[in-house]
Amino acid sequence: MRKQIVAGNWKMNNDYVDSELFVSKLLKELKHTTTEVIIAPPFTSLLASSNSVKGSQVIVAAQNMHFAENGAYTGEVSAAMLKSVGVKTVILGHSERRAYFNESDDLLAKKVNTALAHGMRSIFCFGEELEDRKSGNEEAIVGAQIKNALFHLPAAAWEHIVLAYEPVWAIGTGETASPEQAQDMHAFIRETVAKKYSKKLAEDVSILYGGSVKPANAKEIFSKPDVDGGLIGGAALDVEQFLAIINAF
Ligand code: PGA
Repeated sequence: MRKQIVAGNWKMNNDYVDSELFVSKLLKELKHTTTEVIIAPPFTSLLASSNSVKGSQVIVAAQNMHFAENGAYTGEVSAAMLKSVGVKTVILGHSERRAYFNESDDLLAKKVNTALAHGMRSIFCFGEELEDRKSGNEEAIVGAQIKNALFHLPAAAWEHIVLAYEPVWAIGTGETASPEQAQDMHAFIRETVAKKYSKKLAEDVSILYGGSVKPANAKEIFSKPDVDGGLIGGAALDVEQFLAIINAF
């Protein structure tokens, strides 16, 4: 079922102490909402955060994981490890993982498969670079990213997939896609999924927008019919800003 979601991707920010302070402040100030609220702390805070949010409406996600079940992968974390600390949602394919850690569509398809095999939900990120948009290739790029990493999935798997469109040129730059640009791309994404699967399946998928979402622009972006929420970086590091974005729905 399509849901409204606001997810905070902390990236490599907030140590254990900062994470605990953030979570306690968030829980204290968060008013009951039908919007799903997700935070994605670094690995070192996952256990503490997932314990702290127990019984609340906040969900803890990981920012990445490896596709293998276990083994000689120094520095990596598996799906089972995430689940052992209460984490059942994972962000996959963030543009920083693609750019700095060479994560390809093929690798991401494997990660999505592993998440599914463990009954985990993936927040699957993708988006075009500035040159792609300048040359009018944004739809071709985004369409290919989705197809290459997700279109091998059976329809039933889509219940565990959330899409996050994050144009690379808008991440951490202060430059946002206009609400119209976001809506146009989200409509294209939904249509692409509908063509491969069905209109009903595409209508049920939550598609988040990410890239410089702030309290000042969230309301307008979220008001677009195909935008089901946001994946928030910088503004999710400040409890007040994060709450303001959640309240923008
Ligand atoms: P930003 O990051 O909100 O700081 O642009 C978004 C993201 O990387 O998910």
